[in-house]
Amino acid sequence: TGVFTYDPGFTSTASCESSITYIDGDEGVLLYRGYPIEQLAEHGDFLETCYLLLYGELPNKAQKADFDYRVSRHTMVHEQMARFFQGFRRDAHPMAVMTGCVGALSAFYHDSTDISDPTQRMIASMRLVAKMPTLAAMAYKYNIGQPFVYPKNELDYTANFLHMCYAVPCEEYKVNPVLARALDKIFILHADHEQNASTSTVRLAGSSGANPFACIAAGIACLWGPAHGGANEAALKMLSEIGTPDRIPQYIAKAKDKNDPFRLMGFGHRVYKNYDPRAKIMQKTCHEVLRELGIKDDPLLETAVELERIALHDDYFIEKKLYPNIDFYSGITLKAMGFPVSMFTVLFALARTVGWIAQWKEMIEDPGQRIGRPRQLYIGAERRDFVPITER
Ligand code: CMC
Repeated sequence: TGVFTYDPGFTSTASCESSITYIDGDEGVLLYRGYPIEQLAEHGDFLETCYLLLYGELPNKAQKADFDYRVSRHTMVHEQMARFFQGFRRDAHPMAVMTGCVGALSAFYHDSTDISDPTQRMIASMRLVAKMPTLAAMAYKYNIGQPFVYPKNELDYTANFLHMCYAVPCEEYKVNPVLARALDKIFILHADHEQNASTSTVRLAGSSGANPFACIAAGIACLWGPAHGGANEAALKMLSEIGTPDRIPQYIAKAKDKNDPFRLMGFGHRVYKNYDPRAKIMQKTCHEVLRELGIKDDPLLETAVELERIALHDDYFIEKKLYPNIDFYSGITLKAMGFPVSMFTVLFALARTVGWIAQWKEMIEDPGQRIGRPRQLYIGAERRDFVPITER
């Protein structure tokens, strides 16, 4: 019954009103609360972006200092969470661990599950932003069999994350400021992207009144897919498989072959049909990191650059408006920083948490909010009578 608009993949359905992020896919524009992503990445830091996404305005100096301090008060996780990790196999994918652990936060922070209280909503938001680096670093340490490193609150947000990932009890670890800045930029670039699949998942889960930790866990589960956040991991695996620039043409041919499901990972975007503004910034950051680390003649980067060059001049890719997306370069950058491929999507989730939670808050605070309930076009059997099993 009823007449519905059939819109597979929701390519032309606006599911909500939002004042957080604006994207013009044709022009390659991305704005957070009106500010161009290029300016935020160049002049701001990640926590400033978090403040902007959550509160709607950039903070002044005092507001920024207060926000940084308040987030830093939430960086620890309940000690019992460490036991929770022990239940996982060491070789578990860190995204599986993150989905479980972030969902489990709702069992630890009961006060923040009261979504009717605006103060608790903000505390839940800050808890999530603050605890994601701690949990992500724990997932990494658990995976490689090293002891967990507690947060060091005198470090800034991203340096603290690097410290928790790379410090070991037996020697001094100093965070490289160039890498910390580059990673901070990566976090800014990933912080929000309007109603993508994982954000829509968070909103849909939240529309039922589910608590914020459960909603973010749902977002993480969705982000894991290779067509979404898993693409940086998939892009790097593909570059390693290609190996050297001379093997690129055969992969291009595979990508163009209608009978071959292979796609060039890190290429194409549902919304950006000319270029992805984040990819431009990411390309520059990638080169800065490789220079800082003294990585020259990196075969992966060489392959990446050549693949980009060939694809940008190929009629198939031009016609279908397939350009490198952010994941194309972020994979190489994160690998150079020492992160294993399995952590890439975890870092995406860490950064996107603020966007998810800002979108969740916006939805909860919208007086017109209703439970999300898409309809369908039923194409199954017509009404028919049950036939006993002996007569089938
Ligand atoms: N390589 C080869 N062909 C492609 C690719 C690709 N990467 N992407 C799209 N196409 C082709 C596709 O086969 C289709 O051809 P045809 O019209 O002949 O059937 C046409 O281009 C349109 O593709 P589509 O799947 O209808 O486009 P979409 O907007 O639904 O998909 C996408 C967008 C990102 C899922 C897709 O481009 C893709 O699978 N890319 C590779 C994975 C990837 O890099 N994902 C990261 C997305 S950005 C990060 C994020 O926001 O999560």
